[in-house]
Amino acid sequence: MTFFLRTERLVLEDITHEDLDNLLDLARDREVMRWVLMPFDDDSRVKTYVEDAVRTSEQVHGRRDYHLAVRVPGTTVFAGLAFLETDPALKSTAEIGCILHRPFWKQGYAREITRALLRLGFEDLSLHRIYGKCDEQNRGSIKALEGCGLRYEGTLREHVWLHDHWRSSQYFGILDSEYYSQKR
Ligand SMILES: CC(C)(COP(=O)(O)OP(=O)(O)OC[C@H]1O[C@@H](n2cnc3c(N)ncnc32)[C@H](O)[C@@H]1OP(=O)(O)O)[C@@H](O)C(=O)NCCC(=O)NCCS
Repeated sequence: MTFFLRTERLVLEDITHEDLDNLLDLARDREVMRWVLMPFDDDSRVKTYVEDAVRTSEQVHGRRDYHLAVRVPGTTVFAGLAFLETDPALKSTAEIGCILHRPFWKQGYAREITRALLRLGFEDLSLHRIYGKCDEQNRGSIKALEGCGLRYEGTLREHVWLHDHWRSSQYFGILDSEYYSQKR
């Protein structure tokens, strides 16, 4: 059965094989991918990502990873991608993130998606810690994470070459206790 989450203005649902073209469009947009550290640098890697996402979505018991298409409800419009991925070694921790097409930027969608992923992680999966990481120059991502209560935890300095610069990744995290106390 397809997993889905409803937010105020969006639906987040399992990626299917039919989303390959949607993902390729996203991955080929250089402005979208400017700060993104994901294996989307060639088409075959995007195809592998989709195949892995579909395989994960077919897991019946103990599912811990969600790679979701973000859509406008009642339409076939693909707004982007969102994910929650549990650390395989530390099953109590997961990473979240999202990548949106440009027409969806700066309208509060990332915050809306982040809140839905936190709800999934803490309330449904009983995680202890959720984090997001982003390029230190990615102001939109930083503000979206902080706006949902994730706190700056540190910077991994210039650990990888990304397109045209050494990327420093900032980490933002939230614990279950903080999530529930901010919900009150
Ligand atoms: C980063 C991204 C997810 C932000 O999504 P978004 O839907 O535009 O973010 P929101 O509208 O929820 O904005 C959250 C805050 O960030 C601000 N913001 C968004 N984009 C910004 C930008 N480029 N520069 C500065 N501030 C920005 C918003 O104004 C808002 O501020 P507020 O809290 O003061 O209201 C989106 O720009 C994107 O998908 N970019 C390409 C992929 C990417 O970088 N993903 C993150 C990988 S780690």
